[in-house]
Amino acid sequence: MNNHDRLLGILEEGSSDYVSGEEISRRLSVSRTAIWKQINKLRELGYNIDASSRRGYRLISRPDRLEVSKLADLLTTQSFGQRIIVLDSTVSTQQDAMRLAEEDAPEGTVVLAEEQTAGRGRQGRKWYSPRGKGIWMSIVLRPTQPLAFTPQLTLLTGVAVCRAIRRLTGVEAGIKWPNDLLIHGRKVSGILLESATEDQRVRYCIAGVGIDVNLNKEDYPEELSHVGTSLKIEAGLEIDRTALIAAVLEEMELLNKLYAEQGFQPIAMLWEALSVTMNRSVRAHTGQGISVEGTAVGLDPSGALVIETNQGERIQVISGDIQL
Ligand code: BTN
Repeated sequence: MNNHDRLLGILEEGSSDYVSGEEISRRLSVSRTAIWKQINKLRELGYNIDASSRRGYRLISRPDRLEVSKLADLLTTQSFGQRIIVLDSTVSTQQDAMRLAEEDAPEGTVVLAEEQTAGRGRQGRKWYSPRGKGIWMSIVLRPTQPLAFTPQLTLLTGVAVCRAIRRLTGVEAGIKWPNDLLIHGRKVSGILLESATEDQRVRYCIAGVGIDVNLNKEDYPEELSHVGTSLKIEAGLEIDRTALIAAVLEEMELLNKLYAEQGFQPIAMLWEALSVTMNRSVRAHTGQGISVEGTAVGLDPSGALVIETNQGERIQVISGDIQL
């Protein structure tokens, strides 16, 4: 723990009370001037700290910053989130998580960032990831099944995020195939699953989760202003990002266990129950540039979307996008 974290720890212990400069100086073995400098640095980071020449320092409020210790305190998981890395700014947490996976990071290792400068979306799209407003998170997965089964993990991750959002905010998000989360027809979250393979063996997957948590309407750039929404906009109040991350990791661990024990079928059932795609007229654009129109009737055992055309033909769509 560095001096910055120790100073915060001391101020937090005092909770609503002042802690004298003398006591802090003794406990950190630094001069009163050094403490003053650190207090000012914390203020620059958004901590509201009152200073009184007679009584000392008092922490009034903290910025909504992601911190490993706060998240670790909330987590009840065994493997997901046992290793957490929080970055202030990064290009893409997918890249960071991949690097860690290459260095043998265990399943459930999590990388989070306050902002991404080149967040990645599906199909080569960009993912808008402004500072402090969302959850930009990548999770290392180490599946034992062959590559053909990885779409199931994408659907599992979508179910986990959807359940966590519903549980924590009460907002009824729904899943649009394969894994966009929508509220009132607007996208609030997206999932990007990337795999590293060797022959047909999956070495690891990185599940990238983006959730627009506390963005305000004016935070959206023009091109997203009519298609995107945030939990804050929908719920009408600020959402605790740390609590939501903990909920997502708990759901991931629970569903991963269910998947390992009982296979994909219970996950598919949960997905269908949360889906806004089922029994709707859809047009699918497959990765191969083909369009299929019909009614979405369910998932097949591999996780592909089954569409029944007006001619009664059933077609499996493995990858791509759909329009409702
Ligand atoms: C989509 O296109 O819907 C998927 C978006 C995935 C965004 C997340 S944010 C955390 C992780 N890092 C990235 O660069 N992308 C994913």
